[in-house]
Parts: sequence; structure tokens; C-alpha cells
Amino acid sequence: MDVFQAFKEEKQKSHKVDAFYTPSKPVSSPSNLRGRDEEIQKILGALTTPGRHCMIYGDRGIGKSSLALSTLEGGRKHQILPEHVFQYRCIKNTTFKDIIEKAALFIDEAYRHNKTETTKKFGARARFLDIFSLEGTREEKITIEKEELTANKAATVLHHLDSVMLIDEFDVVRDDVKHEVAEFVKQLSDASSPFKVLIVGIGSDGAALIAGHQSVIRCMHEIKLPRVEDKYLSEIIESGEAGLGLTFEPAIKNSIIEISSGFPYFTHLLCKESAEEAIRKSADVIDKVIFEQALIVAVKNTEGQLKRCYDLAVTSSRTDMYPKILLSAAKFNNEQFSVKSWIEQIFDDHGLTLTYGSMNNYTGKLIKAERGEILQLVRRGVYKITDPRMPSYILMCHNAVP
Ligand SMILES: Nc1ncnc2c1ncn2[C@@H]1O[C@H](COP(=O)(O)OP(=O)(O)O)[C@@H](O)[C@H]1O
Ligand SMILES: [Mg+2]
Repeated sequence: MDVFQAFKEEKQKSHKVDAFYTPSKPVSSPSNLRGRDEEIQKILGALTTPGRHCMIYGDRGIGKSSLALSTLEGGRKHQILPEHVFQYRCIKNTTFKDIIEKAALFIDEAYRHNKTETTKKFGARARFLDIFSLEGTREEKITIEKEELTANKAATVLHHLDSVMLIDEFDVVRDDVKHEVAEFVKQLSDASSPFKVLIVGIGSDGAALIAGHQSVIRCMHEIKLPRVEDKYLSEIIESGEAGLGLTFEPAIKNSIIEISSGFPYFTHLLCKESAEEAIRKSADVIDKVIFEQALIVAVKNTEGQLKRCYDLAVTSSRTDMYPKILLSAAKFNNEQFSVKSWIEQIFDDHGLTLTYGSMNNYTGKLIKAERGEILQLVRRGVYKITDPRMPSYILMCHNAVP
């Protein structure tokens, strides 16, 4: 077979891999979403109850965007949720105007096309819609833009609309924008509006995500997203086995699940690299040899921030102690641990006896920014790995050592 043909065939096969294992994009179809039935029900419940809105929060990579997108997709398909869904992914400089822009443009468009029902609903064209429309002179628009675009005005115009607005990565926006969104949601809620808001972001509690706005917390159904249970991680592996005609040896499956520790991101990543490696080798079974190769690639392809943080923590030191003690720290998963139990774990893992003095030296460095702040001091003598995904990454690095 010539090189072009071989390349083409391999490419086609790896395209197929991307249909089952998607480490770098959220799941958007409910049929690929595993183990979230309870959460889906709660979201649908909130979004179909007058005055209620919804908020999903949890760790990075736990599956928040996937849950939101799949629920909206399924809800729409089954006509439980409205046809129109607006999505916005926030960045640091996002303004309130950016967030509501799509919905405003939608109304504006409908109004300009003079659809009778819309005209009836919205009455005279709301002045603030001119900010979003392409009509009007530059001067006119500048004057309008100087007027404040408040939550109140936005709610007045949008509250007739039967839609859901998904605001993802809400944790990164400025507090004043959070305040405005909170006020907007409250106004919608007070008006029992069919316009629903689904807020998604990283956080350990819902109040923090919405910057402590008590009034809106009352009308928000909060969902703290837990890790995905092992049996559902198995299902992720198995869906690809069936679809790609591959088999993961049971021991490899267990390793993937153990490394993932509830984060579907790692399951997808490890399965993708394993499947691609198997395809390259024309193998049907993913065994230890293929998996070890896949691990090396997976470590290279891990999301940047995790990798940078770990590299900062372990490199530029003259000792090889850091990877060792971090591996032992990773064994506690995301639980906090005392230095005493850490010393014991290090002994179990590596047969090394470390003193409190030397541990002090290491922890002093590992909580610093120069070392990626890989550790956090919880209280005196008690630490925690900062990024909840880090234990998985550490286990992966450790297993990837040839
Ligand atoms: N319930 C799930 N079932 C299967 N795969 C999932 C599930 N939730 C998330 N994933 C996968 O995990 C990874 C991270 O999901 P994502 O929704 O982007 O997380 P977050 O938004 O919390 O950072 C993606 O690769 C996605 O495909
Ligand atoms: Mg996300």
C-alpha cells in the first residue's frame, strides 16, 4: 500500500475515534452523556418552573459544559424546553451587553422583520435595541451607548421571549457584571418570565459564583456537579469499544478508571490515545504495551495549565524528590492530608524516611507561585493539592515513565 493510501486510511480511522473519545470538547448530545440523569432532571425541573432559574457549578473538567449543552439539546428535541437557546461563553472582559447581545439581536431582527406577533408583544421598539442593531447613524449609536444598559432595561425587553440563555464560564467575569446578571435574573424571576437563565462556572459553592447576591440565590436552583461514578466511566470506554471494534484488556480499563478518579476528561484522553495507538499498530486489543505508549502521548497532550503547573513543581530542582513526594500526595486524591500521613505514604510508596524538617522545606516551596502553587496550605501541618485534576495527571505521568 502506498504511503498516501496508508495515511488516508489511518486518518479515516482516527476520525472515527474522535466520534467516541472527545477530551477536548464538551459532550453536546445526551446520548453520549453518562451518569447525569439526576442532574438533567433537576435542570429541566428548574427551567420549566415559573420564576426558577438554574446554576451548575463544580471543578474544572468535571463535565459542567457537557451537562448544560446536552440538557438543552435533549430538552429542545423533546419539546420540553423552548426552541430558541442562546449561548455565551464568558471571558475576562465580558460585559453585560456581550452576554445579552444574541438575545437582543434576535428580538431586534424579529422586530425589524415586522413580524406581527413580535410587534404586538414588544410594542414600540425598545430604544436599547438600537445599540445592537446595525441601523442608525454612528452618532446616534454613540449617544445611545452612553445611556446605561441596565439589567432592568434588558429584562423589560427580553422577558416576553420564550428562550433559555446559557452563560458558561461565568466564574471569570468581573463582579460588576455578575451583579448585573444577578439583577437581570431577579427581574425575570419576579416577572415569572419564560426567559430562563442557566449559569455555569467553576466554583466550590454557588453563592461565590454569583458573587453572593442573596436575592438571586433564592430563585436559582443550584447544582453542584459531582465526579462521574466509575461505572459510567466504564460506559465511556465501552461505547468506543463497540463503535471502533476495539477491546481494552480488563486491567487497562481499571487503570484508566483509577487514573481518571471521576474526571471524564482523563477517560476520554486515555481512551483516545490508546485507540489511536492501537490503530497505528493494526491491533484490536489494547494491552499493556499499547497503553504505555498511549500514556506517554496523553501526558504530552494534557491540557496546558495542568502540565505547566506540574512542570514548575518538579523541574529546576537538583533532586528527584519532587515527583516522588507528589506521587504520594496524589494518593490522597483531593482530600487534605497531614504531613504525618504524607510521610507514611512516602515510606509506603518509595521506602524513604523523611523528617518533618525536610518536608517543611519541600512544602514551603510547593505552595509558592514559582512552583506552580501545586499545593495549598489548609491549616498548620495540613495540605491539599490545589487543582483537583492534578492527582490524575500525576498518576498519568508516573505510569508513563518507560
Ligand atoms: N457525563 C459525561 N459523560 C461522558 N463524557 C463527559 C461527561 N461529562 C464530561 N465529559 C467529557 O469530559 C471532558 C470535560 O467536560 P466539560 O463539559 O468540558 O467539563 P467542564 O465544563 O466542567 O470543564 C470533555 O472531554 C467531555 O467530553
Ligand atoms: Mg466548561
